[in-house]
Amino acid sequence: MTKNIVILPGDGIGPEIMAQAEKTLKKIGERFGHQFKTSYHLIGGAAIDACNTPLPQETVDACKQADAVLLGAVGGPKWDAIEKSIRPERGLLAIRKELGLFANLRPAKLFPELKDACCLRPDIVGQGLDVMVIRELTGGAYFGTPKGQEVRDGERVAYNNMIYSESEIRRIAKVGFETARKRGKKLCSVDKANVLDVSQLWREVVLEVAKDYPDVELTHMYVDNAAMQLVRNPGQFDTIVTENLFGDILSDEAAVITGSIGMLPSASLGASGPGLYEPIHGSAPDIAGKDLANPLATILSVAMMLRYQFAMVQEAQVIEDAVSAILQEGYRTGDIMEPGKTQVGCAKMGDLVAERL
Ligand code: IPM
Ligand code: MG
Repeated sequence: MTKNIVILPGDGIGPEIMAQAEKTLKKIGERFGHQFKTSYHLIGGAAIDACNTPLPQETVDACKQADAVLLGAVGGPKWDAIEKSIRPERGLLAIRKELGLFANLRPAKLFPELKDACCLRPDIVGQGLDVMVIRELTGGAYFGTPKGQEVRDGERVAYNNMIYSESEIRRIAKVGFETARKRGKKLCSVDKANVLDVSQLWREVVLEVAKDYPDVELTHMYVDNAAMQLVRNPGQFDTIVTENLFGDILSDEAAVITGSIGMLPSASLGASGPGLYEPIHGSAPDIAGKDLANPLATILSVAMMLRYQFAMVQEAQVIEDAVSAILQEGYRTGDIMEPGKTQVGCAKMGDLVAERL
């Protein structure tokens, strides 16, 4: 198969980790007889520097024509003082919207080899940690209107609008049920239905969709309780589905309790067309260009791309197995280093994985 992949390195450690994704793609292509054609385009701070906008039209066009998009990370202190409508993060939000990527899949999994990195007590983690957070990505307070800042009665006020239509809720609920069905068949819908009207509609629609999935056990949880339960007893969760802002917060929480945020990939999917695959960590400007970054989240994002976009299940598995093998052999980047292990840099880690493909 021939696939066109747009690579958006972005800022900070983005270019270094993307170089490792390239190595992975090249080896998988050789081994399984696929041709992955990659092209590089600008987003975030890099795009602001080059063309004064965080998402040039040229990038949008390239992404829309691609079979899939791989993203590094955006942002950094260099652009912190910039006018907010053209901040690097705006580029990320805009590409999600442009590509209609309403479903964000964020698996938070504790690798058995890294269990000592987990920041919860062993008796709390029990058998391990494997939660899939599904976050709605193109609605809610992130995109709702009206929004803005103005002066009322002599003082500044600002507002956003957390708004969802039933069709937006229905389509993400379906992704939730479908995903849960392929995992542990347990879906927890997180909302704030005791307070918010938008959450009441959310719950109504999720209950309607549930009728098509009698084999999936559905529970509902208020977001404040969910934040607490994630650290108190994360083993109770299999798949979580929630709206954009709650999902932003809970997915970071779920990720960090695994202790290895440098290991976690993500996929952002639309109804059809190219999805966007990226590590969940940020641009880490403090270590950028020093060959210190952990490329494994990016390499695992390549695996997610192969699995979800191209149905290359075996290819994806080979990558995931190679990552496990490297960890078992004791190789670590600085962020997951433990006494007695072998510390390697970003490029070396990319080579080690590629060698085992
Ligand atoms: C994320 C990030 C983004 C978000 C930022 C960078 C705009 O936090 O992908 O979770 O809030 O969605
Ligand atoms: Mg976030």
